[in-house]
Amino acid sequence: MSDPIHSSTAETAVKQFTKNAELMYNRKWFTDEQLIERLVQFAGVDRNDVVVEFACGGGVVSATLAKGARRVVGIDITPKMIELSRERTATEHVVNVDFRIADCYETGLEPDYADVSLMRFALHHFHDPLRVLKEMRRITQKTNGRIVIEDVTSPSNELGSFYLNTLERFRDPSHSQMFSIDGIFSLFKICQIKPTKIELYQRSADFEEWMEHVSPSEETLSTCRFLLEEDIGRNLTGLDPKYDGRGGITFTLNGILIQGVPA
Ligand SMILES: C[S@@+](CC[C@H](N)C(=O)[O-])C[C@H]1O[C@@H](n2cnc3c(N)ncnc32)[C@H](O)[C@@H]1O
Repeated sequence: MSDPIHSSTAETAVKQFTKNAELMYNRKWFTDEQLIERLVQFAGVDRNDVVVEFACGGGVVSATLAKGARRVVGIDITPKMIELSRERTATEHVVNVDFRIADCYETGLEPDYADVSLMRFALHHFHDPLRVLKEMRRITQKTNGRIVIEDVTSPSNELGSFYLNTLERFRDPSHSQMFSIDGIFSLFKICQIKPTKIELYQRSADFEEWMEHVSPSEETLSTCRFLLEEDIGRNLTGLDPKYDGRGGITFTLNGILIQGVPA
């Protein structure tokens, strides 16, 4: 059945990530080696594993994963992202990786294809994340298979979650919703994925730099600044925003790494 909301959000994502592809490709926010290494360690990938990276973006995680895995398939809906991913792995002479343009709702991969299905910084793009998690479960081996998600979380209270998601959707219209930790546990449960491991972390961010990822219009920049400034001292968002004393704003994003197995 075709899903008109998904078609529209997917189209917005392709527009947004085509516009920002080059910019994201080498940005420290995405390429930070320590963060990628932590994710790879968390996923426990080894030489026997076939790994599928959902929504692989510019391929930086897939390229690192491939160095320790049997094979990696990176899928993304934005053709420009796939083009850059291929360039990256060609430059780095990584041969056991294959990038495909595909939708996370329906990858076209066969059941039990992967030992590890992994997705970083993308759960918040889907208005129906159950579809994606079910697809991850479908293609993951039932024996020894692992499903790994890394994303930024929202507060667990409704008002805070609403406020943060309003800010996020304004900043990047391809965002659907950030989930709370409990929300992610619920999604896993519905999809029959049993959580086996979780790590929470915090990441400092600078407002101007955070906005640069999305090449915002002046209006978007000032509205997001307004929303974040309103939250200084109130902290509905859980970001704990503060003036940095130089006219800027700093804050802290709350990250989650969660691993589960098909139940
Ligand atoms: C914030 S980027 C994250 C990229 C990468 N995972 C990383 O951590 O560097 C989100 C990615 O999700 C992709 N995306 C959004 N909707 C998608 C969909 N329905 N199917 C596949 N990819 C999608 C976008 O094209 C974009 O590359």
